[in-house]
Amino acid sequence: MIFDTHTHYDDKEFDHDRELVLADLKNHNIGTVVNVSSSLASIKTTLDLTKKYDFIYGTVGVHPSETGELTEESFAYLQEQAKQEKIVAIGEIGLDYHWKEPDKAIQKTWFLRQLSLAKELDMPFIIHSRDAAEDTFNMIKSEYSNGQNGVIHCFSYSKEIAKKYLTMGFYLGIGGVVTFQNSKKLKEVVEYMPLSQLLLETDCPYLAPVPYRGKRNFSGYLSYVIEEIARLKNISIETVIETTTGNAKKFYRL
Ligand code: NI
Repeated sequence: MIFDTHTHYDDKEFDHDRELVLADLKNHNIGTVVNVSSSLASIKTTLDLTKKYDFIYGTVGVHPSETGELTEESFAYLQEQAKQEKIVAIGEIGLDYHWKEPDKAIQKTWFLRQLSLAKELDMPFIIHSRDAAEDTFNMIKSEYSNGQNGVIHCFSYSKEIAKKYLTMGFYLGIGGVVTFQNSKKLKEVVEYMPLSQLLLETDCPYLAPVPYRGKRNFSGYLSYVIEEIARLKNISIETVIETTTGNAKKFYRL
């Protein structure tokens, strides 16, 4: 069965039919789902989902664009929630220089604090990095401890940068973007990288694959991503599913 390693089912896009969508996932061969926190509010809604559904695990973390809301007090709350049952990683955390706010110094401060927390709790971490390749790599490199695992979610950089992370033993999260016709760079990365370091992800409700590009995404559409990975690597669909599910279980230690 398929393992979706990065979802946001607590997003308001699912408010009107969340239960139906989640109940339907087994009909699409989806076995396990990880719901990823991105703000203080979503830590709570993620925890609620993990309690309600057996097959949903969660992560705790604040997305770089939301780090303006962090304080010592709220960080203490985040730290406590990271220890809850079924919380399997710290994320999504990182740097996003695409937007001007919050400024780089704030993003870096809280990225570092959350990376340190992952190290302290010996948990894997999920990286969001946009237009910030060099700073992200340097901060991870200086902070993570050997043997600790990270995934670069929605990997969007070059083959050269992929190589640096793969050498460190990290995983790359691959989703709908790989099906886009103009994603030549990402297709090259997927061709090049070992399947043993690839994690399947939707990032739903965002980034639906072709032929649903622009629509609301859900784990069921991973079949299109799997097909494209199988085509690029010239392997069977079964191999993609089995290997990436194994990778995800190893990464999240399930
Ligand atoms: Ni995400």
